[in-house]
Amino acid sequence: MNSGEDKTGKTLAELGVSRPEEVSSLFAEIRQRFDEESSAPRDESTWKEFRDAWLGRKSGVLTRITDNWLKPATAELKRAVGAALNELRAHVETKIEERRAAIEAGTESAAMARERVDLSLPGVIRPIGSHHLIRQVFQEIEDIFFSIGFSVVEGPEIETPYYNFEALNIPEFHPVRDDMDTFYLELPKGAPEPLLLRTHTSPMQIRTMEKRQPPVRVIVPGKVYRRDNPDATHSFIFHQVEGLAVDTDITFCDFTGTIEYFVKQFFGPGVKTRFRPSYFPFTEPSVEFDASCPFCGGTGVSNGGTCSKCKGAAWIELFGAGMVDPAVYGFVNYDAKKVSGFAFGIGIDRLAMLKYGIDDIQVFFQNDARFLRQFP
Ligand code: DAH
Repeated sequence: MNSGEDKTGKTLAELGVSRPEEVSSLFAEIRQRFDEESSAPRDESTWKEFRDAWLGRKSGVLTRITDNWLKPATAELKRAVGAALNELRAHVETKIEERRAAIEAGTESAAMARERVDLSLPGVIRPIGSHHLIRQVFQEIEDIFFSIGFSVVEGPEIETPYYNFEALNIPEFHPVRDDMDTFYLELPKGAPEPLLLRTHTSPMQIRTMEKRQPPVRVIVPGKVYRRDNPDATHSFIFHQVEGLAVDTDITFCDFTGTIEYFVKQFFGPGVKTRFRPSYFPFTEPSVEFDASCPFCGGTGVSNGGTCSKCKGAAWIELFGAGMVDPAVYGFVNYDAKKVSGFAFGIGIDRLAMLKYGIDDIQVFFQNDARFLRQFP
């Protein structure tokens, strides 16, 4: 800008201006120059330069006019210079502000153009997840038991030895505790009692009977934990559905009938059941339920060879169960002379593996979408 060498650097006297009419033509000249320059700034930084050249406090054109024209002006000219200067200042300020707004609007609309969303583009399609197979099997089992009057209760995965063992008639040093290699929680010194990760869902038998009077008909789906080394049939976390029915008149026939109904609903009407004597501290008598192998129709032979699922045995071991041991009623203040009932503990992972032909329990916990997608 050449305004540095212009007339604003000199006083009116030096410019030879002595009459008010000359003052106004002098201002008209300046104003014209301003108007010519004012359309030049196209972005924020050139606008700032322009603003400072005109309004800058130290050496802007208006400051120079004030210092060189107005202040030293003769009394005769002062009024005219003052009025013209005010008018010029108002004009300059308005125009500079207008320019700023125009530049800002321009940058904004440029940004808008750049960032415009094209609504006609196809969207990002996220695959919708599905329930994990274990959850699906839980639901299948729940539905079967709902249909015969059971309801669902759930309980804590962190348990006390009392609920996990003692009240289930498993006193300390009972050998079954060895089979249920247990995770104990590390607790601060002085904690009132040890805590453990439940090794089965059976503690909820106790918690339920403590809260409710017979008739009781519940199932307990949930996670359980044992210190097992992982292999194709073992995992330190797995799933069970506990079942408990207690009333004044429940017989062994109600028990086997209920289990048979469940197995046929789950594996299909052609599947037969049988039970063998077994042992659990909290049931008496205790049994182990088997199903005729659903893969070879209970023949032990498949595709002209030994059935790979039951290894030719024709039967598949399903789960443990039994009539509730009267000793257990003692822990929950039920009158063992008046009530009777049955309980069962179904391993869900095992059942899911059988039903869906899965030969490694680990796949349930690996979160491999290629596996999960096979069970939409
Ligand atoms: N709680 C047992 C386990 O995890 C399974 C079981 C067996 C549960 C017999 C029962 C039952 O309710 O009656 O090994």
